[in-house]
Amino acid sequence: MNCAGVVCYLCLMETPPERIETARLLLRRWTVDDAKVLVDAANASLDHLRPWMAWATHVRTPAEQREWLEHVTAKAREGSDFAYGVFRASDPTSVIGGCGLHRRIGTGGIEIGYWIHVDAIGHGYATELAGALTRVALQLTDIDRVEIHCDEANVRSAAVPRKLGYVLDRIENNTVEAPGEAGRSMIWVMRAANAAQTSDRLVAHRCVEDRQRTPLTGSVTGSPPASISDGNRDGKRRERSGDDAPADRITR
Ligand SMILES: CC(C)(COP(=O)(O)OP(=O)(O)OC[C@H]1O[C@@H](n2cnc3c(N)ncnc32)[C@H](O)[C@@H]1OP(=O)(O)O)[C@@H](O)C(=O)NCCC(=O)NCCS
Repeated sequence: MNCAGVVCYLCLMETPPERIETARLLLRRWTVDDAKVLVDAANASLDHLRPWMAWATHVRTPAEQREWLEHVTAKAREGSDFAYGVFRASDPTSVIGGCGLHRRIGTGGIEIGYWIHVDAIGHGYATELAGALTRVALQLTDIDRVEIHCDEANVRSAAVPRKLGYVLDRIENNTVEAPGEAGRSMIWVMRAANAAQTSDRLVAHRCVEDRQRTPLTGSVTGSPPASISDGNRDGKRRERSGDDAPADRITR
């Protein structure tokens, strides 16, 4: 949602945090300065990503990557897409993937996308980040539905929402956008009402805004993180500078 420069209390409330920390991961909005580390991670993982990610078609240059980062930075300013780099909490310079929250599934909904560096798969990182993002998303004032879309053939990806307690809502025929896809898109849904029942699977985390570090409650249905609401109360729109992964579509 774009406030077109008007300070809008609701829209400010809808902005997810800049940084999200879990037990093992730091999710931080990409900035244009991340072009080199992102391109290195994406290029090293190209063969692993190509079957499933429409954007993983060729080896990229840092300049191309920077252009994309500028694009997603603008999308974050609009309030429509929030792309995060996934780093090891123990080494915040080490990129192990990308993920994002995307407002592209209609009113009340937000979609999570993710990819993990080829050298980091199989350790539960995708499940950990998606669990944290699910909680963060459901704490946004306008969101009561979180979705993960993945092709039916992408069994590794489908394991993530399944483990988190998402419900397979439907399977839709879809355009094949990457070579591994079957063209049937699984729509996994977590509704706010159901999240409380599976809250033990939704990963503990805390949200961190610039210069603010505030513990987050474990409740899925509780108040927005203090770091968000505190920032809103002062009526100032914080400048955001970064976002997510190599293309504006992370899933599918
Ligand atoms: C899908 C992806 C994000 C998973 O990342 P990850 O960190 O390895 O995922 P996790 O370790 O959290 O969970 C993967 C689960 O899939 C399971 N899995 C792995 N290979 C599998 C297979 N061939 N068949 C079925 N399940 C499989 C694992 O066992 C694991 O479940 P478990 O924890 O119960 O053992 C990663 O493989 C990736 O980046 N793939 C390419 C990009 C992509 O597909 N993105 C999603 C687009 S919708």
